[in-house]
Amino acid sequence: MSFDTSRTAEEPAASNPRPATAAADDGRIRVRDLLGPRDRHAELARDVREGLSRPHKEIPPKYFYDARGSDLFERITCLPEYYLTRAETEILERCAADIVADVSPHVLVEYGSGSSRKTRLLLDAMRRRRLLAGYAPVDVSEEALRAAAARLMAEYPELTVTLVIADFDAPVDLSFAGRPRLVAFLGSTIGNFVPETAGEFVKSIAAQLDDGDGFLVGFDLVKDVRELEAAYNDAAGITAQFNKNVLRVLNRELSADFDIESFRHLAFYDAERTRIEMHLASERDQVVVIGDLSMEVDFRAGESIRTELSHKFTREAAERVMACGGLRLHRWETDREERFALALAERG
Ligand code: AVJ
Repeated sequence: MSFDTSRTAEEPAASNPRPATAAADDGRIRVRDLLGPRDRHAELARDVREGLSRPHKEIPPKYFYDARGSDLFERITCLPEYYLTRAETEILERCAADIVADVSPHVLVEYGSGSSRKTRLLLDAMRRRRLLAGYAPVDVSEEALRAAAARLMAEYPELTVTLVIADFDAPVDLSFAGRPRLVAFLGSTIGNFVPETAGEFVKSIAAQLDDGDGFLVGFDLVKDVRELEAAYNDAAGITAQFNKNVLRVLNRELSADFDIESFRHLAFYDAERTRIEMHLASERDQVVVIGDLSMEVDFRAGESIRTELSHKFTREAAERVMACGGLRLHRWETDREERFALALAERG
């Protein structure tokens, strides 16, 4: 994990050189660009060069999410096999009021701009207690952030929105957000990290929390292998399209020549490591050229690129991850079928 302290340049909305949203926002939108002048292309180039040079090839999952990839992910969340989003929404419908009563937050900080449905359940609960003042979505994509903000601003006139453009794997300075805060990391996106990195992530969040702040994390739970594998191998093939989309991103952004249809979507559960692995497996021996990297990548038939890890948790595993930041579970709520859990953690 990189802790690059040079990436703290703050950019007030007024001097933001990028186009502002069309909607009038009455100065209620602020932008904190923690990525600053960092070169996205260079970073992608470095990650891909490094990942495809390994004996077991890898590409980080964050590169799925261009406009098409984000759209495909939205479609995944509606699939009959993909129970995660529905289960988490069910928990929030039942428990958002209790969570908000526990923390009394004035500000919701949300990692990943997520579905506005889940965000709304939390904001509504804050509003009902007359606490609602600020919302700060954190995402790498300014477009995703602006879209999320535009949807919410109109409905919540009391809301000041701070768009935080940042990578999840770097610490975000939350000092701008009033207190108490509820920091939410929903959707089991924490499962993308290997346990050690998840612990580091929790630690970096915990370092920003004061007594009384809450950290709300969605965890997909260990369950029957068939149910898990079905969620990542949907009958309609949307997950396969989502997985293959990363090759389109590389073709476009790095002038690569991946023949997308010669790669097969593969997703399976590793019971020992309690995680789904997603891969793209080459159907044949082939050489792929990545123009911008002046790189040729050899594939043997059946050789794969690992594109995502999605860890599954028990309550104990979730407690261990939270303990890495000195956080204790204050609340543990599951859906009726115990497929998914929301953990509310606090300091000490
Ligand atoms: C957004 C990381 C939680 O791991 O289930 C969905 C992404 N990948 N289908 C997950 C995903 C394939 C998703 N997360």
